[in-house]
Amino acid sequence: MDVRARIGELKRRKNAVILAHNYQLPEVQDAADFVGDSLELSRKAAGLDASTIVFCGVHFMAETAAVLAPGKTVLLPEVEAGCPMSDMINGRELRAWKARYPGLKVVCYVNTSAEVKAESDICCTSSNAVAVVNSLGVDRCLFVPDKNLAAYVARETGKTVIAWDGYCYVHHRFTPRDIEAARASHPQAEVWVHPECPLDVIELADKVLSTGQMVLEARTTSRREVVIGTEKGIIYRLSKENPAVAFFPARESALCAHMKMTTLGKILRALETDTFRVEVPGEMADRARGAIRAMLEIA
Ligand code: 13P
Ligand code: SF4
Repeated sequence: MDVRARIGELKRRKNAVILAHNYQLPEVQDAADFVGDSLELSRKAAGLDASTIVFCGVHFMAETAAVLAPGKTVLLPEVEAGCPMSDMINGRELRAWKARYPGLKVVCYVNTSAEVKAESDICCTSSNAVAVVNSLGVDRCLFVPDKNLAAYVARETGKTVIAWDGYCYVHHRFTPRDIEAARASHPQAEVWVHPECPLDVIELADKVLSTGQMVLEARTTSRREVVIGTEKGIIYRLSKENPAVAFFPARESALCAHMKMTTLGKILRALETDTFRVEVPGEMADRARGAIRAMLEIA
């Protein structure tokens, strides 16, 4: 029996569901029951009627699923698949930082550990960060860990967003020259970038979209060519779902090594051996759930 068939059989036997982020390898996206962005995957995990969730993404995503689906077994097929941006701040550092700004609300990007979420007032994703900050009804807030997303949110809301000095190494490397070169090579194309890119890149784009918003936009665009300024893995899904549109990466080297660690073989191993289980201790999970639920209520 081949790997796909064995995965299918084990999924049925264990009442398991495979969730995959839009940046995952094509073979993983094709094997998944649901492919989505961070917000879509959080919502899906919260509503699933399955005993086991195999999370094909990075560690903070599996943790978010574990927080939202207590009682379910959450498996991360590759234990080393972390997110370097989420590792740029821990709970102790956030406690010390927020003590310097008494009274200010803390917004945490979903790309954070459960212990950081537990120290935050509300979570956000790249789809809803602007709406989340607007919902606070305040002029100033703290934002962790992505300084680029924070700068974009500040621009869109007109509020003072005090940011931690974190960034995604994949998106932070995009430069205005990448966008200018892509426009020169594809003069008819529209340019879509992710809000984790630096503000000088965002300012040159036609649209600023999360990965899930790119998937939706691609379904209705009248353009025949689009330049994509985010991790290249999403181009597989965009091209598969929209064969009449040509998608070009704004930067050929925009690859997240951690997102590419998960393979079909590792999904099979996860199901065979129930590894690697991602669990969040009770009180921390309750507090992190509060920040995530606050987000899910408003956007
Ligand atoms: P979204 O899928 O929410 O756009 O996030 C991108 C990302 O970098 C996830 O790690
Ligand atoms: Fe983290 Fe960036 Fe990789 Fe997303 S693309 S998992 S933010 S390092």
